[in-house]
Formats: sequence, C-alpha cells, structure tokens
Amino acid sequence: MTAGDACLFVGGFLLEPFGFARYSYNKDQSKVAPRLSNRPYGLNIKLNGVKMLSRIYIKEVPEHVGEQVLLKGFVHALRIQGSVSFLILRDVTGTIQNVIVKSNAETFAYVKTLSLESTVEIVGLAKKDPTREGRYEVEVETIKALAMSEPELPIAVNEKNEVEAATDIRHQYRFLDLRKPKNMLIMKLSSAFDRYYREYLFNQGFVEVHTPKTMPTPSESSSDLFEVKYFDRPAYLAQSPQLYKQMAIAAGLEKVLEVGPIFRAEKSFTSRHATECTSYDVEMAFIKDHNDIMELEENLIVYILTKIKENYGDEIKAIYGLDVNVPSLPFPRITMAEAKKLLGSTDYESDLTSEEEKALGEYFEKQGQDFVFLTDFPISVRPFYHKYYTDKPCTKSADLIYRGLEITTLAQREERYDVLVEQLKAKGLGTKDIQWYLDFFRYGMPPHGGWGLGGARFIMKLLGIEHIRDAMFIYRGVNNLNP
Ligand code: AMO
Repeated sequence: MTAGDACLFVGGFLLEPFGFARYSYNKDQSKVAPRLSNRPYGLNIKLNGVKMLSRIYIKEVPEHVGEQVLLKGFVHALRIQGSVSFLILRDVTGTIQNVIVKSNAETFAYVKTLSLESTVEIVGLAKKDPTREGRYEVEVETIKALAMSEPELPIAVNEKNEVEAATDIRHQYRFLDLRKPKNMLIMKLSSAFDRYYREYLFNQGFVEVHTPKTMPTPSESSSDLFEVKYFDRPAYLAQSPQLYKQMAIAAGLEKVLEVGPIFRAEKSFTSRHATECTSYDVEMAFIKDHNDIMELEENLIVYILTKIKENYGDEIKAIYGLDVNVPSLPFPRITMAEAKKLLGSTDYESDLTSEEEKALGEYFEKQGQDFVFLTDFPISVRPFYHKYYTDKPCTKSADLIYRGLEITTLAQREERYDVLVEQLKAKGLGTKDIQWYLDFFRYGMPPHGGWGLGGARFIMKLLGIEHIRDAMFIYRGVNNLNP
C-alpha cells in the first residue's frame, strides 16, 4: 500500500495524505516504531489526537463491523429517495450498499450531485445490513468525489435493467466494459491461470525463458505472418516461441516454460482466433515420447482447475452460475484415425474442421469428459519438426480439445539433425533461412517435446464465453487495432 491509500479524517473532513509513515502502537497508543504494517488495511489509529483511517476493500467490511471505515471505489448505482439515499459502491473486490440519511444534511445533498461511475471516497460506520441476512452496509458520514464521471455513459457498467451495448461499442469503451463484475472476474481468472500455470511448473523444476518476439524467419509457418520493418531488412513477429524454446533445450535447460505474446496475421473472422494472444508454452528434454507431454499437461490442468475451484469457485457460481469441474485423470485419448471414423469422415489426410472438433467435444462431454487428447496426426497437417512414427505416416503429436475447442498443440520433436533436414526438404522447404535453427541440432540434442496452449481459449471454455474477444483484456483482430 502506498501513502496515497491513507488519509486523515479530522472532525468529519478528509484531508489528503502527507508523507505517511506507518507506525505500530502499544495498547496505550504510544508509538513503537515506524514500520511497514503487516496488517495494512482497516487501521484506525490516532496520531496527535487526529484519527487516521486507512482504506479498506469492500470484501473486508465484515471484519470491521462497528468500526468507522474508509472505502474507495466507483459509484455503481444511486437511489435517491426522500428521507434516505443509497449509493452502491464498487471496488475491485465487490460492491456494497452505502446508506445516507437525511439528517446528514450536507452529505445527503452532496450525493444528489454525483454521477454514476464517478470515483469517490466514503467514510462511515460498517454495519450488518438489517434487512438482508449475510449482507453488510455502510452508514455514511462523508463522501468525497475524486473524479466525476461525465453524466452520459457510452455503455452501462451496471447492467441491471439495461440491455447490453453492441459489441463494437463495448470494445471501443473496453475500460468501462471491464468494470463490469463479470468481466473483472475474467481478468482475475486470466491472472490466476498465469499464476497456477507457473506455480505448477516451477514446482516441477521448470525455468522460465523470455524469447524474442522479432524474428529473422517465420516461427511456425510462412502464412499468417506479420512482417515488420527492422532497420534495413524485414523481420517477422513471432507466431510461436517454438524455435527458441527448442534452443533452450539445446542450451541444456531441460525444462522450460514461457508465457508470452504470439502474433498471427489470421485474416479469418472466427470466434476463436485473435491476431495477438498469450501463449503458454512448455518444452521438456529427455522424454520418452509425446505421452510424457500429455501426462504433464493433464496433471497441470487438474492442478489449475483445482486451484481455480478453491479460490474462485464461489465467485464463478455467483456471477456465471457455473460449477468448476475438475476432470479426473487420465484424460481420454483418441487417435485422429479413430476420431475421423467416429465422426463418419473418410478424409484421413486433413485436420478436423471446427465443426468436427465441436462434434468430438460433444461426444466426450456426453461421457462426462470435458477434455480429450486427439493424437497421431497425419504428417501432411503437421510441421516438419514433429517426430514421425516409423510404422505409419503420422507424427507423435496431439491436440488437447476442451469442450469442443482445440486449446493446445503438443508434440515430440525430431532431435536428429539429418532426419530433421530430410523432413524439412520433404515438405518442400529450404535450409538456408533457418540454418541458425538447424544448428541447434548439430552438437548434441536431447529427445524433447512440448506444447503451446492458448490461454484465452481456456478461459472461454471455462466460463462458456462465445467469442475470444471477450476472454481477453484487449482483443486484436483484423479490424480491431483500437483501443
Ligand atoms: P499452434 O499453432 O496450434 O501450435 O498454437 C498453439 C495453441 O495456441 C492457440 N492459438 C491461438 N489462440 C487464439 N488465436 C490464435 N490466432 C491462435 N493461434 C494459436 C491455440 C493453439 O492450440 N508451436 C506450436 C506449439 C507446440 O507444438 O509447442 C504451435 O504454435 O490454443
């Protein structure tokens, strides 16, 4: 907490903070020593006879019943009545009712001048809501506006009794759109996903690398590439950290992860593609084959969903009406050939269409399975660096399908230089431009494999969000370069 989070409350007036050092106090209020408090909020102390209030968050109000508290946030709703007015305050932790009685004449008049979404500070008495069991409220003493909102909002933040604004307008005013509790939860879950992803892998001994996002050659395929001017020559925005995470394996790091941006110049307008998104990558050395990678990923996903259920399950239930389903291990596996047969297709040489992916998801969901690994892809639809089977024209790779949507591609890689070059040539590609990558394989390379996982797609499926643009902080698409 910074000094700016604390303010002085003198005889009913809020004073702006000055160089604020936090002191600890003995019971008789004698100062002990300046220190950073390890209980930063809800401090209500006297300094030279002046009462000092620290801001508390709305979710902390229940711990302060009967105390004077200082809240800060946005005006979520206002109900002005004859003898009592209500202001619903919203901060990053939730909303709370604030009651302003007519006898508090100055504040009662002031609240009428506020507009929705203005930022305010409120000082008042924390209480149990007498009319609603398990709810809390604040009996307001003073309100101070920090920054007034213009009275006409381009989109409603509090959507109670309001029709949701058109998608384009919502995304034009994404900062307002994100203030909605349901969207704020998406951001918190994206962050939780980051945290648990790293937590699990760090506990397994992984090291995080940060690979360059400007590249001399394409990283995944020569289509869907963003070309940028790099001084006197072209460069390409990384479509994947693929080539560099393999370099980390060549560097002997053995277990690496990266959470970072990828760029795809996808001209398509689908609900599951963005032109820029966050990829969650892993690369691991000395594996037996791609089964090791699948095993790591399914364990990781169970860990992440267990943590999300523990820490956000109630909020997800309250806002989205959904239960977080933690899958059992192992996830089902089905080969591409089996899947095609199941779906009644005879086209064994191509990838699944999005409709087929969906149908496959539905088939497994009916059996109570949210996740399924689709394995053994034909060589024709996989990149040259995948490891090929010796007994069938397939690669040792898989996609992870979550409720009918591909969220991951994973594979064992070819680690033998000569074979890799052969596979590259067989795909009609030349060695010249990527010799720098091929060099990684010339001086000893462990058998290895890894995955790329689309975080926004995971969040979409977790919450039943229809379009990827709503599962990201800011969406980038063909026609979306603002804000
Ligand atoms: P792939 O190209 O399949 O594989 O990408 C891996 C995962 O990244 C996500 N993803 C996207 N999400 C949203 N919009 C996009 N345009 C987009 N493109 C990809 C998907 C996808 O499953 N190098 C390999 C991974 C590997 O083998 O390690 C790769 O990039 O969820």
